[in-house]
Amino acid sequence: MKYAIITGASKGLGESIAKRLLQEQIAVVSVSRTKNEELKNFALENGIEYKHVSCNLSLEIEIQEVFMEISHCIFEKNPTEILLFNNAGMIEPIQKVGNLDQTPIIRNIKVNLIAPILITNLFLSKAQLTNTKVTVINVTSGAAVRSIEGWSVYCSSKAGLNMFTQTAAIEQAELKTNNTIIGFSPGVMDTSMQETIRSSSENAFKELEKFKEYKEKNLLLETDAVANTLVDLVFRGNPESGRVYHIKELINS
Ligand SMILES: NC(=O)c1ccc[n+]([C@@H]2O[C@H](COP(=O)([O-])OP(=O)(O)OC[C@H]3O[C@@H](n4cnc5c(N)ncnc54)[C@H](OP(=O)(O)O)[C@@H]3O)[C@@H](O)[C@H]2O)c1
Repeated sequence: MKYAIITGASKGLGESIAKRLLQEQIAVVSVSRTKNEELKNFALENGIEYKHVSCNLSLEIEIQEVFMEISHCIFEKNPTEILLFNNAGMIEPIQKVGNLDQTPIIRNIKVNLIAPILITNLFLSKAQLTNTKVTVINVTSGAAVRSIEGWSVYCSSKAGLNMFTQTAAIEQAELKTNNTIIGFSPGVMDTSMQETIRSSSENAFKELEKFKEYKEKNLLLETDAVANTLVDLVFRGNPESGRVYHIKELINS
């Protein structure tokens, strides 16, 4: 049996990934601060195991406690494969450097970068003791490789996540494990993150009008379509460990 852990499955892309995996008869553990009752019902309808665990990913003590428990329960079941989707993320603070407050800077780096590092470290550490294959999917952003004025903290956290992905993949290859770790850049999607972006001020975020236009002109991607493309890559695309995939190259291939 395959198990998937998805952070940030309460809404947006994470919810769509969870739905698709449940349809594929993969047991899902969802981790976020809020629950999604629809997912629970969807799992019941599909006759597949689903569990939500509440965790604030900006608090490292909670991460440690929650993921020790999750990993213990899953590894105990001798799964054929564990899929870890580090998907939870936040865009804030949207502000120019010099006008940033300390707390949101630290929260962003913790949720977007430190949490995926801690969780991946824990799962790869446990995988060393078993024969279970672990596949890690780190959800990154085009902002990791393009400087966007007003998004310095978000860009930095996602750039760090790309480098973490690439470095961990080289190490796993050197250790000759069968674990895979990839990055996935989902493109601009119609989620609550985009609502937060559109509600920022032009003073803080230079490209505000462009992002408002994405919505007005219906140019935002639907999360279900993005999730399907990602899951197809993971199951049928033989993903190359260490590579950061962008939705555009996958849709056009
Ligand atoms: N939307 C886009 O255009 C876009 C573009 C490029 C990359 N991405 C990336 O795609 C991923 C998914 O984004 P999305 O657009 O689907 O975002 P979203 O709709 O805003 O959902 C964010 C998810 O992250 C969880 N989350 C946020 N802070 C958390 C915390 N402190 N502790 C636990 N969970 C937390 C939220 O759950 P709770 O609130 O329930 O805790 C929610 O499930 C993110 O990594 C994002 O950076 C998005």
